[in-house]
Amino acid sequence: MTNPRPRPSILDMVPYQAGQSAVDGIAHTIKLSANESPLGPSPKAREAFIQAAEQLSLYPDGGSQVLREAIAARYGLDVNRIVCGNGSDDLLSLLGHAYLDQGSEAIYSKYGFLFYKLVAQANGALPVPVPETEFKADVEAILEAVSSKTRIVFLANPNNPTGTYLTIQEVKKLRENLRPDILLVIDAAYAEYVRRSDYTPGIDLVSASENVVMTRTFSKIYGLASLRLGWCYCPMPVAEALNRIRGPFNVNSAAQAAGVAAMTNMAYEEKAVAHNEQWRAWLFDEITGLGLKVARSVANVLLIHFDQDGRKTAPEADRFLQSKGLILRRLEVYRLPHCLRMTIGLEDANRAVVAALSEFMGK
Ligand SMILES: Cc1ncc(COP(=O)(O)O)c(C=O)c1O
Repeated sequence: MTNPRPRPSILDMVPYQAGQSAVDGIAHTIKLSANESPLGPSPKAREAFIQAAEQLSLYPDGGSQVLREAIAARYGLDVNRIVCGNGSDDLLSLLGHAYLDQGSEAIYSKYGFLFYKLVAQANGALPVPVPETEFKADVEAILEAVSSKTRIVFLANPNNPTGTYLTIQEVKKLRENLRPDILLVIDAAYAEYVRRSDYTPGIDLVSASENVVMTRTFSKIYGLASLRLGWCYCPMPVAEALNRIRGPFNVNSAAQAAGVAAMTNMAYEEKAVAHNEQWRAWLFDEITGLGLKVARSVANVLLIHFDQDGRKTAPEADRFLQSKGLILRRLEVYRLPHCLRMTIGLEDANRAVVAALSEFMGK
C-alpha cells in the first residue's frame, strides 16, 4: 500500500513567492514590491465593503449578478460571457483546469507573469517559456514554439514584471496565426493604466472569436487586492466551462459590493491613472539619469536593470534600499537576478527611492 500521491507535476512546482513585505529591524517601511495601488481603494468601495459587514451570515450571490451587470454596462459586454473569480489568479487556474491536461503544453513568454507556469504544472501540462525581444513578448517566437500539444497561450498585456506591451495589431497577428483549438488568454491585469492609442485590452478580440479570453483584476488600479476579485470575458462555451468548475460561491459579498462601487467611480480611477502617468514618467527619467537601464513600461511598474557583477548589482541595491526601509521586488524567481521591479508609489516613496538609488550609484 502506498500513501496518497498528487499528480507528479505538482511535486515539481515551486510555490508562488510573493514580494517581500517587511524588513527585519525596520519599523516603517514602504512596500513597492507587489504592484498594489498606492492610493488605495476609492472611498465608495471602502464604504460598500463596510456595509457588507451587515450580511456576514449570508452566502454571497454565487453568480455575482450585480457585479457582472456593472461590468457589462461599463464596457458594453454580454453579461452571460463574464465570469468573476476570487482574484484573477482564480480564473487563470480555472482556465488551466478546464483546458490543460496531462501531456499538453502551455506557452508563455520568458519573463511573463510567474503564475502561468504554475497553472500548467498544476494540471500536468508542460510549461513552455518563449524568448522575448528586449523584454517584450515576441509573437514570432511564440508561434514557433507551438506544437501539436499546445492548448493555451498565456499573454500578460501589459506584462508584469517588465511593464511592456503588445499592440493590438501584434495580438491580432498572434491570434490569426494560432490554431483555432488553442486558447489565447490575454491577462490584462494592468489594462486600466495604459494610455496608448495602439493598445486595447482585447475585448473586441474576445467578442469576435471563439478562442480568446481576457482576464482583469480589481487588485491593481482599484486598490482592492486584499478582497481577491477578478473577472474574465469569454466566448460563451468557455464561460459555461468555467461556471461548471468554479466554486459555487467563489466571490464573497464584500468583494462583489466593493467591486461594483469601484467600477462605477470613474473619477477616482482617472485620478489613479493620472498619478501613475505623472510619477512613472518622472521615475523613468530620474532613474535612467543615474545610468540605470529601465524598461519602457506602460503599467504601474518599472523594471530596473543593475550590473551583473561587481558592487552595483541588484542584490546590493536591494540591501541598500532595504536599509532605508524601501522594499522593491527581487526577481530571481523570474530569472532576472540583475533586476529589481519597482511599483509606482506615492510622491514621497518615489522621491525616497530616487534619492536612495542616487546615493547607491554614488551620484
Ligand atoms: C499579470 C498579472 N496577472 C494576474 C495577477 C493576479 O492578480 P489577482 O490579484 O487578480 O489574482 C497579477 C498580480 O500581480 C499580475 O501581475
